[in-house]
Amino acid sequence: MVRNVSIFDTTLRDGEQVPGAKLNMKEKLEVATQLKHLGVDFIEAGFPSSSTGDFQAVKEIATKVGNSEDVVITALARAVKSDIDAVYESIKYAKNPLIHIVLGTSDIHVEKKFGKSKDEILSKGVEAVKYAKTLLPDVQYSTEDASRSDFEYLWNTIEAVVKAGATIINIPDTVGFAEPEEFGHLIYRINQRLINLNDQVILSVHCHNDLGMATANTLAAIKNGADKVECTINGIGERAGNTSLEEVVMAIKTKPSIYKAETKIVTKEIMKTSKLVSNLMGIEVQPNKAITGENAFAHSSGIHQDGLLKSRDAYEIISPKDIGLDDMELVLTARSGRHAVKSALQRIGFGSLTDDQFTVIFDDFLEIADQKKEVYSHDLYTIVARHLKNLADQHCFYELVDLQVISNNQFPSASVKVKKGDQIFNQSSSGTGPVDALYTALMEISGLDISLHEYRITSISRGKEALGKVKLQVEFADELFTVQAADEDIMKASALAFMNAINMAIVKQLQEANIQQLG
Ligand code: KIV
Ligand code: ZN
Repeated sequence: MVRNVSIFDTTLRDGEQVPGAKLNMKEKLEVATQLKHLGVDFIEAGFPSSSTGDFQAVKEIATKVGNSEDVVITALARAVKSDIDAVYESIKYAKNPLIHIVLGTSDIHVEKKFGKSKDEILSKGVEAVKYAKTLLPDVQYSTEDASRSDFEYLWNTIEAVVKAGATIINIPDTVGFAEPEEFGHLIYRINQRLINLNDQVILSVHCHNDLGMATANTLAAIKNGADKVECTINGIGERAGNTSLEEVVMAIKTKPSIYKAETKIVTKEIMKTSKLVSNLMGIEVQPNKAITGENAFAHSSGIHQDGLLKSRDAYEIISPKDIGLDDMELVLTARSGRHAVKSALQRIGFGSLTDDQFTVIFDDFLEIADQKKEVYSHDLYTIVARHLKNLADQHCFYELVDLQVISNNQFPSASVKVKKGDQIFNQSSSGTGPVDALYTALMEISGLDISLHEYRITSISRGKEALGKVKLQVEFADELFTVQAADEDIMKASALAFMNAINMAIVKQLQEANIQQLG
């Protein structure tokens, strides 16, 4: 039997605890709205007693996002009346509000953090639940540091708070200390007792990633009876972060015979949500991160590209389309083989080259690939143009000759000089910032309408001569392109990346105009 596992998203509470990730109210509302589109069952909107701003943001989310039955809005309270009041006052506007109370159960928390006896802490938890129940019917109780707690004391706490009215018991591995087999066993034992005590109470887990095992621990908990799991987008959160929502959801979906479970997540919204959170919080997603990392569906080795082109399942266990990406990305580099280059040529309209034509083109490709990190469709087009005499315009792409960019508060401006074949173009423009001015100037020269979706800059080497890598996602004629360029001068890298975008757009135009006339 397939059971439903509820997804509790805490990106806006545990995730927002990451230094520098604080969002303003408008941004929090935007993330919460997207989380609802993603189909999460619970949104933990914040920690309202921490600041007036957080209180207002939770209230706004409860009112505007919690206005339908399909999502529960919650917020965190310590086991004290003022925190519980702040949670109640901010979430009561939601159709389905839930009070979330946290209190430690490990000896370290009870004795060292609170300096109290176990009995005192247990009574404090029970009183907090009883008080919360006077305000709302639904109360979640988190036994903080559960994975390092004495089992019988942990169980006594659970039993007492359930009797006091808690409707969800959440078992946190607060410091990421658990290991999958051990954590699965803990959840199994709790689940056996909880079913006997009150089978209406939901068992939940909340894992941290200090040993890189948050996803594995959460999945082990699901196998052992947890019906609700707490996660964040991109796995952000305190220290090494929380369980990553996208990893758990895609693991469950990809391995139905193992987990025998499903979630309500609309997986096609995963990438959009990941990018939104990363952009608003300013937290880059590690490139090799499972599911949402930028390399998660990019294949560059010739052996893999060849295998994928023969049969996608050779190297692909999830379709990129399932998480809202366009398609797998075959990056053309010096390691790409003949099969991948042939397929890329076919995509830009050169599907009927003779073997002799392809051989010379492939030799040129290897030469360019040795000089450049990535080879783009306009590079391929230029190579083909060089060898096929009838090709309409052999000089249809732009090259950067020079640039000057002025950054100031009033009129950021840029002047660029570019060439296309023998023609030289000069253009000066102003913009909201230096990059905007630069891109406006380049776009004015090209006459193309390219919209910039994403601009990212990273350093790819160390010291004074560090290269700045600029990566862009642009849209032209309803198609998204990802392009990049690197240079010691970040403005030049920015310009070169945009030139790549312009040239890719030109290839698209050429394709559409059916200009290729094979000789
Ligand atoms: O890590 C933790 O224990 C928490 C609780 C509030 C669930 O974040
Ligand atoms: Zn946590």
